[in-house]
Amino acid sequence: MNTLYIKPSGPLRGTVSVGGSKNAALPILAATLLCRGQVILEGVPCIRDVSRALAILTYMGASVTRLDRACYAIDTRAATACPIPDVLTSGMRASVYFLGASLGRFGEGRIGRIGGCDFGTRPIDQHIKAFAALGAETVAEDGGVSVSARTLRGAQVTFDTVSVGATVNAILTAVLAEGITHLSVTACEPHVEDLINFLCRAGADIRREKNGDICIRGGAALQGCRYEITSDMIEAGTYLILGAATGGAVRVRGVAPETLTPLTQVLSCMGAELDVGEGEITVFATEPLYSYALTTGPYPAFPTDLQPQMGALFSTVQGKSRLTETVWHGRFRYTEELQKMGADIHVYDNIAEITGGRLHGSSVNATDLRAGAALLIAAASAEGESRITGAELIARGYEDLVEKLGALGADVGVID
Ligand code: UD1
Repeated sequence: MNTLYIKPSGPLRGTVSVGGSKNAALPILAATLLCRGQVILEGVPCIRDVSRALAILTYMGASVTRLDRACYAIDTRAATACPIPDVLTSGMRASVYFLGASLGRFGEGRIGRIGGCDFGTRPIDQHIKAFAALGAETVAEDGGVSVSARTLRGAQVTFDTVSVGATVNAILTAVLAEGITHLSVTACEPHVEDLINFLCRAGADIRREKNGDICIRGGAALQGCRYEITSDMIEAGTYLILGAATGGAVRVRGVAPETLTPLTQVLSCMGAELDVGEGEITVFATEPLYSYALTTGPYPAFPTDLQPQMGALFSTVQGKSRLTETVWHGRFRYTEELQKMGADIHVYDNIAEITGGRLHGSSVNATDLRAGAALLIAAASAEGESRITGAELIARGYEDLVEKLGALGADVGVID
């Protein structure tokens, strides 16, 4: 899937079932390295980044068997701490989780170049801070990263900033280490909670304290287990925004509605009607929406992974809207593509000011995963046909994309 076409199809209506969470599946797949027994994972999304994580596990010597479309049996007992080459790591950011998991299991690990969306600099100093506190040394060489420790021991780690990746890597490193690890200034995204729930199901002792800190009593061996990955709040949010942007009525099924409160509150303030039921949310946007201003941040603030999609929606809504991005300052590259569709957007520092209006179809390029989702939303709301190149980046995070869009009434397909 390199190029998609999308033609105007009017308001999109219908129901979409969301898959398992990409951002939960990837750390959990890395965490299977810590389990001494077969793990059965359900709700594994059928997306490119999952294929990459499974390829890394297989390369390390794990046995991976697909039992069903979204269900895998993974047994890592025969895995070894072999260095993971660039070809396997450079396609996604989540490769970095194999550093923490390998360190936790074998006392060492080496990964090649870390890939992922290009939002400018993506440091890992907080990951290294956690590794060091637990007793490991980190060396960056030839574009890759190595970690090793004689012994890992529980420690206090206070992060300088809230980081999903560093929180995940600290948990993965600490869970088998002797002693108590206490993590302060941690991320509490639903996908971090899902990793904790998975590890606890496998026998770990991890507690989230009232103040948000995480306490890990390490050292107990983890067993095999059966676990169902939580649903993908970003996929769900993307379809809700799509429904709102096309003036349609879209129901997403299989979601945990409370995880999407930051989005549903914004859509509601913009004038959309929302119907929240058990495991599902429906958005109705039959009347024109109002402009709005939002700021992204760590959970429970508005997710940065839905910011580009909101940029597309704001481009279709009359009046002046504003996006303030506090997680990734470089996450506005997609606005140049939206401008090709007629969007009126001014970016300065970490703020994008958007004056909404009519968009027209155009040839645009997906610069990263969520940027691609934003272009799809804009194209579905525009007059005239659009072509989106770089669509393989969208496949990193959205399963059955063309089928799900088609089920909502979008005229969309793959050109090559
Ligand atoms: C982040 C998002 C996550 C999103 C993902 C992909 C947050 C808190 N995290 O996760 O929701 O799914 O991008 O879009 O919203 N940082 C450091 N040093 C580090 C690690 C991070 O300074 O060692 C900074 C980053 O530059 C960034 C912020 O912390 O400004 C959050 O980064 P982090 O949460 O680690 O990134 P991801 O895990 O990729």
